[in-house]
Amino acid sequence: MSRAASVPFVPAAIFLSDYETHPERYVAGELPRLPFADREFDLTLVSYFLFAYQDRLDYEFHRESILQIMRVTCDEARIYPTVTFEAQPSEYVPMLQSDRALNGFQFTEIKTDFEFLVNSNSYLRLTRAQLVL
Ligand SMILES: C[S@@+](CC[C@H](N)C(=O)[O-])C[C@H]1O[C@@H](n2cnc3c(N)ncnc32)[C@H](O)[C@@H]1O
Repeated sequence: MSRAASVPFVPAAIFLSDYETHPERYVAGELPRLPFADREFDLTLVSYFLFAYQDRLDYEFHRESILQIMRVTCDEARIYPTVTFEAQPSEYVPMLQSDRALNGFQFTEIKTDFEFLVNSNSYLRLTRAQLVL
């Protein structure tokens, strides 16, 4: 097996090994509901789930998931990537940014050096909008 072909299995092996040794570190949950307290996490990461499956998960699912993610997040959430599995920019990103239900949050698209799949070189950073007095 070439080195390139073996790369994807390394994280999976690390996860499975850690899961067997420390099952107490893992909590099963399923968006759009999460079994965690309000603002329990400083940083919440989402990878290859929201936006990527836009063809199967509708806009309401994305909006409810983001509300839930920000409920459990104290500081910042990052959703990677901002494209679909077809490498197209998700049409949900601008819809979410202008959604009144989410106007308490600030959305910033951040470019990354990392590009796991084609066009997967940005993530959406979510924070609470700053109050201007
Ligand atoms: C393409 S994989 C990405 C896995 C991992 N986050 C990564 O980046 O390698 C999509 C993951 O979404 C998980 N998933 C499916 N439905 C879900 C839901 N309703 N809430 C949270 N995760 C879900 C699947 O179990 C699967 O592990």
